[in-house]
Amino acid sequence: MDTPQQKEDKISPQAKWWVDGQRIRYKGFWFKLEFITASEAIRAHYTPLPSDIILASFPKTGTTWLKALTSSILRHSSPLSSSSKDLDYLNPHEIVPFLEIEIFGENPSKDITEISCPSVFSTHLPLSFLPETVKTSGCRVIYITRHPADTFVSLWHLYNKFGTEISIRQAFDEFCKGLVPAGPYFEHVLEFWEARDRVMFVTYEDLKANPEETVRRIAEFLGCKIIVEKIVKECSFEKLKNTSKERGEGVHWSGTKYDMFFRKGVVGDWKNHLTQEMMKELEDLADLKWRGSGLDL
Ligand code: A3P
Repeated sequence: MDTPQQKEDKISPQAKWWVDGQRIRYKGFWFKLEFITASEAIRAHYTPLPSDIILASFPKTGTTWLKALTSSILRHSSPLSSSSKDLDYLNPHEIVPFLEIEIFGENPSKDITEISCPSVFSTHLPLSFLPETVKTSGCRVIYITRHPADTFVSLWHLYNKFGTEISIRQAFDEFCKGLVPAGPYFEHVLEFWEARDRVMFVTYEDLKANPEETVRRIAEFLGCKIIVEKIVKECSFEKLKNTSKERGEGVHWSGTKYDMFFRKGVVGDWKNHLTQEMMKELEDLADLKWRGSGLDL
């Protein structure tokens, strides 16, 4: 294992657009040191229960939406479940904590047995950062992914709010090189994809195109009986955005305010920001990185 100094040596000199703190490369992925430390605590102290649910994702691929949908599914299938609080009052991130932030980021040796069942956690960590038991314990893992062009555009807008000063072209080049939080994107997706016999895959695009069908699949995976239409309505972009607006300027973590998780909520916004050449670069990259895996754009 690297010492903190060795980790620091892997700081990227080029990555200038993440203004909320420097990242370092660890096992091929770029994270803040605090998340790497948390991932070590997760591997040391977290043994998932078969009832645990882990929502995994690369940033800006629909994490907030998946958190809302999962907690809504659980609440409607079991109204007494204390783990699923009401989306009328709370931002989905207040309901489903990140393993590497609220759970093990704040207290590396946290006793998570005090958390009620079923426990729902989320993570932006790659699969290789999580304990092996995630694959063997019988816990359910759902991975949401999204087209890299829209993922990049969503991330670019978020970092603009934080005050990034480089051009979209420079930021895009860094995204392609994997120099983004939790990057590289392609390897992140691939790790979960290769474990898809144990991981349920959901795409942002499927959710937009046919929310009812996708919610039905998620509920079935979780073993929940629900009225699909109710869940879809409760977790609509407009509804969640309004609730977060009403919550005011509350800051979640790393300076991210509750309403920053809701921007446009559409498929294909990349067309307003990227050129066809940039899209071609992404397609070529996907072809190179995902060749033979069955994944494509
Ligand atoms: P855009 O920036 O393209 O609008 P994450 O939750 O992983 O941070 O992803 C954020 C992206 O999901 C943002 O995309 C946000 O607008 C979108 N989003 C959040 N909630 C949504 C919902 N209920 N329906 C559709 N899109 C949603």
